[in-house]
Amino acid sequence: MVIAIDGPAGSGKSTIAKMLAEKQGFTYINSGRLYRAITLGCLKAKIDVKNSEKVVEFAKNVDIRYENNALFLNGEEVSALLHTDEIDRYSSPLSAIVPVRHIVNALVHSLAKGRNIVVEGRDMTTVVFPDAEHRFYLDASADSRAKRRFDQGTSNLSLEEIKTAILQRDEIDRNKVEGSLKIAPGVQYLDTSDLTIVQVYDKLKEYTD
Ligand code: DC
Repeated sequence: MVIAIDGPAGSGKSTIAKMLAEKQGFTYINSGRLYRAITLGCLKAKIDVKNSEKVVEFAKNVDIRYENNALFLNGEEVSALLHTDEIDRYSSPLSAIVPVRHIVNALVHSLAKGRNIVVEGRDMTTVVFPDAEHRFYLDASADSRAKRRFDQGTSNLSLEEIKTAILQRDEIDRNKVEGSLKIAPGVQYLDTSDLTIVQVYDKLKEYTD
């Protein structure tokens, strides 16, 4: 079974997807972490993320493994390095490069093969798993998304700066040539702005039971 969840940055989809996967005994796949890992690799190799040719060349040759939620980039466990302000910023333009999207999509499909999964990202319900048994779009206002990120305490930016960065990423995510963030026809839409994690979880559980 595939449970696919899309939504903008900070909509709570990672927390919810992880919870759902744990409780159902499904494999959790966070596609954003794959874009983040490629971004990290490019930054380490001093490749400009806007240089499509170099980025694609890098993405084609990089070894990414995702095991039990740990992510290995060319053999190095990089999970703890993927959620910096820098990776937030550069992963958005990098993920707009179409051939990179194809590489990530193939990786996601290979991770999903033969498994029950909860998978999340921006185009899981539209491009990667349009026929998933359950498809959700989690949304939230820019203010509440910025506040959630601020409260995580992992950013060095002010609340206002986080909000600006989130709006910039939204703009890029919604205007990609392929895999743009959109509400697909037939998905279950949920605005989580004023809901707790448990309330969101309970609502999704209602649909998937
Ligand atoms: O979900 P996230 O914030 O960890 O994603 C990191 C970046 O990757 C973000 O800029 C959006 C992009 N992304 C994407 O384009 N498609 C996906 N399926 C998942 C993430």
